[in-house]
Amino acid sequence: MEFAKTVEAARRQAGAWKTEGCTIGLVPTMGYLHDGHASLIRRAAADNDKVVVSVFVNPMQFGVSEDLAEYPRDIERDGDVCRQNGVHLLFSPDAGELYPDGFCSFVDMSGLTDALCGRSRPALFRGVCTVVAKLFHIIQPHTAYFGQKDAQQLAIIRRMTADLNLPVNIVGCPVVREPDGLALSSRNKHLNPAERKAALCLSAGLAEGRRLLENGETDVRRIKAAVRAPMEAEPLARVDYAELVDADGMRPAAAAHRPLLCAAAVFIGATRLIDNFILDAE
Ligand code: PAF
Repeated sequence: MEFAKTVEAARRQAGAWKTEGCTIGLVPTMGYLHDGHASLIRRAAADNDKVVVSVFVNPMQFGVSEDLAEYPRDIERDGDVCRQNGVHLLFSPDAGELYPDGFCSFVDMSGLTDALCGRSRPALFRGVCTVVAKLFHIIQPHTAYFGQKDAQQLAIIRRMTADLNLPVNIVGCPVVREPDGLALSSRNKHLNPAERKAALCLSAGLAEGRRLLENGETDVRRIKAAVRAPMEAEPLARVDYAELVDADGMRPAAAAHRPLLCAAAVFIGATRLIDNFILDAE
């Protein structure tokens, strides 16, 4: 496995592979890799000749009062996960490498970015879109892989890629869960044992929402209330949102809409967790 810390080195290596006629799959991450990331890497390895993983805790996507300093980091372990899962290049630039002095160009989107996580984290998607567009330009992958756990992020990246005519195929991969239902997230590391137990209220609420929808419930307020109920009953939890939206446009949607995204976010202590499910047309 190759390592690159600079834009120049990453671009040179990816460019050489493209000149040889190799296909490149990119998995953008913020590191502290878990089995969810490993599933994206394995999918990229199955689809492409070369796999590039970027590890970059992107300061631009954190608001001032958010957890940038506490975001977990372990680049040694990330290297092991990459090696074990068939990565060819690990690109881990410093913040100054991607955002040098004088940096002042941003990818701003509207509409899709206003709802759900964008409402409670206004800096998030400008930072995500800017860094992902930069990574696409640096690596020039054929395909890039993102987790469905960040369903809004995935929809936004698909839209940005189409709107800006970026020649990258976007693949979304299923949510990976612990055996008890908790969606894998680098932030799960912050949960103490009591919080880890409490965090199950998120997947429990979503499971109840899915059950109602699958049994034909059409009252959106009743479905949202059912998703919120286990979170509201949990003393360590504070609900951020529980919403039903159309999965492409992120607009409030009727229960019968397909594809329908049911998404929720909750604070467990100081840790914010998100999860969702999508109902597609039969
Ligand atoms: O999903 C993430 O880990 C990040 O938002 C991403 C896509 C790597 C951009 O920093």
